[in-house]
Amino acid sequence: MSALTMRRNNVFEHAIRHSRLPLCISDPSLPDMPIVFANEAFCNLTGYSVDDILGRNCRFLQGPETTPESVQEIRDALASHEVTMVELVNYRKNGEKFINALQLGPVFDDDGKLIYFFGSQLDVTEARERERREAALRTSELVHRLRNIVNVMHVVIKISGRSETDIKAYGEKIANRLVALGQAHLDTLTDEQPKFLKIRDLAHALLLAYAPLGEQQFKFKGPDLELPHDTVTTLTLLLHELATNAVKHGSLGAVGGVVELEWAETDDEHLHLKWRERFGPTVVKPTRKSGLGIVETLITTSSGKLSFDWDPEGLVVDLMLPK
Ligand code: FNR
Repeated sequence: MSALTMRRNNVFEHAIRHSRLPLCISDPSLPDMPIVFANEAFCNLTGYSVDDILGRNCRFLQGPETTPESVQEIRDALASHEVTMVELVNYRKNGEKFINALQLGPVFDDDGKLIYFFGSQLDVTEARERERREAALRTSELVHRLRNIVNVMHVVIKISGRSETDIKAYGEKIANRLVALGQAHLDTLTDEQPKFLKIRDLAHALLLAYAPLGEQQFKFKGPDLELPHDTVTTLTLLLHELATNAVKHGSLGAVGGVVELEWAETDDEHLHLKWRERFGPTVVKPTRKSGLGIVETLITTSSGKLSFDWDPEGLVVDLMLPK
């Protein structure tokens, strides 16, 4: 062996021996494919000394929670001579369990003959645990939001029924309210990360669906506020009811009629929202307000305040909602 080759071999051996990456090498020509080399990082990860390890098949790291499927994956990987990653449960010398993201691959000599298998072990226990906690958190957030929506649907159905005697109109009213709710929630529910809706985006999406003459019929003024999901539900229904009312009796049903929507965050973290209709027909205070009654109930149960000014020039609605 030349001096250069010897130096190169030394470099490789030193690098592998002291690498932070756990690593072991097994010899497939020996019975039961024993480990013939394991570096310091492998010993640190598993808690075994080199003497404990050499000469044994690496399956000694497996235990009660190691699944037969993961072991079969390893057998298949070794048989196929493909570089493969298998995640499986292993145990340290002290019995502590860890999740091992094991990379396996064959090593061939210059003539293409299989001489070794290398294995590199990565402890991914913490990462998997974090993912599990995040998934559990997302699920409970989803359940909370679903419960919230179901509660709202309950109120919608109950109160709509009180004021509507015609079954067809009753069904239509409920359907419209549920569609509005769905619009506001479904996009965000399917997102992996809970998304916060901006008040401007919500108002724009909802009002555009109602204003017969399009965007020219509403004017927005307010900062870029993000809405927590509980608030989205209430606000969606409020805007839906106000817009429905405005199309039927107010400014959105009139040529030249507009809705001005202004919002701000107060010092005590309330959302203050003002709805003002202009250039519509003369406003007459209605004798019943079934849809708005639903929203009023929702707002008062969430410690908010809603007031109506049936100004003949145009309805003015003032909302205060805790954020
Ligand atoms: C392995 N094997 C292995 N298994 C394990 O649970 N943890 C590990 O870190 C490793 N590392 C490892 C490295 C190398 C180089 C080889 C060749 C293999 C797999 C183990 O030794 C054995 O191949 C499998 O358990 C499947 O074979 P059996 O048990 O069905 O004979």
